[in-house]
Amino acid sequence: MSTAMSTAPDVVVLAGGISHERDISLRSGRRVADALTGFGWHVRVLDSDARLLPSLLERRPDVVWPALHGASGEDGTLRSFFDATGLTYVGSRGAAARLAWDKPAAKRLIGQAGGATPPWLSMTRDVFREVGAQAAIDLIGTAFPEPVVKPARGGSAQGVTIVRDSNRLPRALMDAFTYGDELLVEERVDGTEIAVSVLEDDDGVHALPAVEIVPTGGVYGFEERYNAGETRFYTPARIAESAATAAAELAVLAHRVLGLRHLSRIDLIVDASGSPWFLEAQVSPGLTETSLLPQSLIASGGDLGQAYAALASRALAD
Ligand SMILES: Nc1ncnc2c1ncn2[C@@H]1O[C@H](COP(=O)(O)OP(=O)(O)O)[C@@H](O)[C@H]1O
Ligand SMILES: [Mg+2]
Repeated sequence: MSTAMSTAPDVVVLAGGISHERDISLRSGRRVADALTGFGWHVRVLDSDARLLPSLLERRPDVVWPALHGASGEDGTLRSFFDATGLTYVGSRGAAARLAWDKPAAKRLIGQAGGATPPWLSMTRDVFREVGAQAAIDLIGTAFPEPVVKPARGGSAQGVTIVRDSNRLPRALMDAFTYGDELLVEERVDGTEIAVSVLEDDDGVHALPAVEIVPTGGVYGFEERYNAGETRFYTPARIAESAATAAAELAVLAHRVLGLRHLSRIDLIVDASGSPWFLEAQVSPGLTETSLLPQSLIASGGDLGQAYAALASRALAD
């Protein structure tokens, strides 16, 4: 409890929203709110609805913590509103969030910066129709015999198919297109799935210990993410030290190259030779007690309350 602070900062935690990750967001928001309240800050938790923007602009808080997941928390739109109105907030700015949300764009930048990301191609629905579905399917099947097909923007493994049988490719493409107008066809990487959380402090940008994700059924899909017992986590990940170092370097590179700020979570797969491959970056990682970033913070000896207060203080000082 900070008694030294003459006037406690006024914080708004944004949680809820209309995404299918609403419940996770509410739990993340509550955890952040509890942590900051414990440090003597004035905290209000607001949902992302029609009252949000008028309320923020009327009673401008000292700092906003967007703990929204899914599109409303991660596609950068809300953050761009904050940028336009000069609101102080925790996490990546609107333009950077928009970039990270766009998987092909993020992969291209990371590839250009020398980071490894599985080979891919992206395709819009318009071109898919224009060149003809069959021709496109034939081309994809030749270039990527056993690809992973996913929406170019999205989350929670929705619309994602690991295609091991080329007869499943047309259906996989259709599934991905139901979630958006652009899809990503990516080479599959077999190995260990890990999440590396990245935090900034006064000394710079740091990777926390990698969390290894082992879905008991073999696939880290929607059910596995949100049902207890469907997935086992190991922190630190059971990978060679050299692989852990390479993963930490790739995560920090991704955070920097995408222009992310304060905190992020970088999702990677470490292949059989110990090389990490970038899959995607999360600008609004889950912050419940059982989420990946908090698991990693706890494993590294950190205190969640202190870490969240430090991030909010960092935003205040920016
Ligand atoms: N290139 C890949 N190779 C192997 N598995 C992958 C690949 N891409 C995605 N996956 C699997 O599919 C899951 C969801 O894919 P991801 O790109 O993370 O989409 P989302 O944004 O929906 O989480 C990953 O957690 C991973 O288990
Ligand atoms: Mg993912």
